[in-house]
Amino acid sequence: MSQIYPNFPSHCQFSHLVPEPTGALIVPRQIVTPSPTDPSNIQLSLVVPTYCESENIQQTIAQLSQMLDRVLPDEYELIIVDDDSPDLTWKIALDLCCDYPQLRVMRRQQQRGLSTAVIRGWQVARGKILGVIDADLQHPPETVLNLIADINKGADLAVASRHVDNGGVSDWSLKRRFLSRGAQVLGLVILPGVLSRVSDPMSGYFLVRREAIAEQVLCPIGYKILIEILAQGKICWIAEVGYVFQERSEGASKVTWKQYFEYLQHLIRLRLRLWPVQRFLRFGVVGFSGVFVDLGMFYLFRHLGLGLTVSVILSGEMAIVNNFLWNDRWTFADLSHQQRSWAKGFKRFLKFNIICLAGLVLNATIVNILSRGLGMNEYLGKLIAIAIVTFWNFWVNLKLSWRVTEVDEEVRLNRR
Ligand code: GDD
Ligand code: MN
Repeated sequence: MSQIYPNFPSHCQFSHLVPEPTGALIVPRQIVTPSPTDPSNIQLSLVVPTYCESENIQQTIAQLSQMLDRVLPDEYELIIVDDDSPDLTWKIALDLCCDYPQLRVMRRQQQRGLSTAVIRGWQVARGKILGVIDADLQHPPETVLNLIADINKGADLAVASRHVDNGGVSDWSLKRRFLSRGAQVLGLVILPGVLSRVSDPMSGYFLVRREAIAEQVLCPIGYKILIEILAQGKICWIAEVGYVFQERSEGASKVTWKQYFEYLQHLIRLRLRLWPVQRFLRFGVVGFSGVFVDLGMFYLFRHLGLGLTVSVILSGEMAIVNNFLWNDRWTFADLSHQQRSWAKGFKRFLKFNIICLAGLVLNATIVNILSRGLGMNEYLGKLIAIAIVTFWNFWVNLKLSWRVTEVDEEVRLNRR
């Protein structure tokens, strides 16, 4: 093994030391090869994020290299992204470069954090397939082979999962199991459309096609890089491979309460980023127009001598019809356009009606709780109720009334 010079890496080590990218976390579509002599036939770039892994890194690199030399000789690279570990993991890794030519090392001194480390590694990667694996051998290296096979079959994303056949965890404490599953349930509540796409959204062991995430601005927080990829990537086909999460043999997990808090921050940030803002604003404008229809018709019915309750119900229903027509033609036009038959339109109208009537009940309940229960001013309570019911009406109608179940035949034909 070559001896590393304290201040001046050897030539061999120097050429394997990768400068830390700065700026936006965007993975380039074009593969960056630092020099013309650089191999551009790299298939797989596997990033190994490290923080204080001095006791594990040699074993991990040896096992990964031995396996990948068999399967992808000269067509893979391992990129260690170390956050300037106090135990000098990056130096030990650099020392290994003379024995493992496909190894590259990035010593980060500007940024810290697991998920940004992974993306910085992907930014300097040369492979068509990008991946991440922990450095502590808790992720069995041989699972990479199954992940590569799935990507080669056409998957955009191949995830090593603890929650499918052949998956599991070693002897985790009940607390660790509860925290991991709890984090997953929380994610399913806040981002159902994202986290429900895989069985193990907490996994930090997966491969993804470069083009599925290229040029996307990624901004994860904390540990869970996979939810960022699921939310921001162009991911159609997802494959999952079962694996058993091993016990650490050396060193310790870096997970603290800070990572759990960052995970929650990450979920909320993605929720806000994925919220259909323009559609929601249109829904609000339509709802506002409904107020005038409701008041105007109420005035007319009362002027025609109709009873109070009848006038309230009829004018309320006229407002619902108004809102449905505008929402169907404007707010959700792209969705209703895919199911234009009368029968489907009428089905949407019925669902819209039921959801809005349920919203009316929710409105009355909230006003009663706030004013009668908590002594809040009635009008303030009414305002809060309207805001909550608007979110309710929007989200439930988006998910139920305008959900595209099957596309009309004629629309499908036009798409061909
Ligand atoms: N560069 C860098 N910076 N690497 C880090 C950092 C950091 O701030 N924090 C942790 N790592 C590295 C560790 O060195 C290790 O290689 C890997 O990230 C996982 O860290 P652990 O501290 O061992 O995490 P764990 O054992 O609790 O594993 C959990 O998180 C992993 C990452 O999401 C599990 O959920 C795993 O499935 C998951 O892969
Ligand atoms: Mn670990």
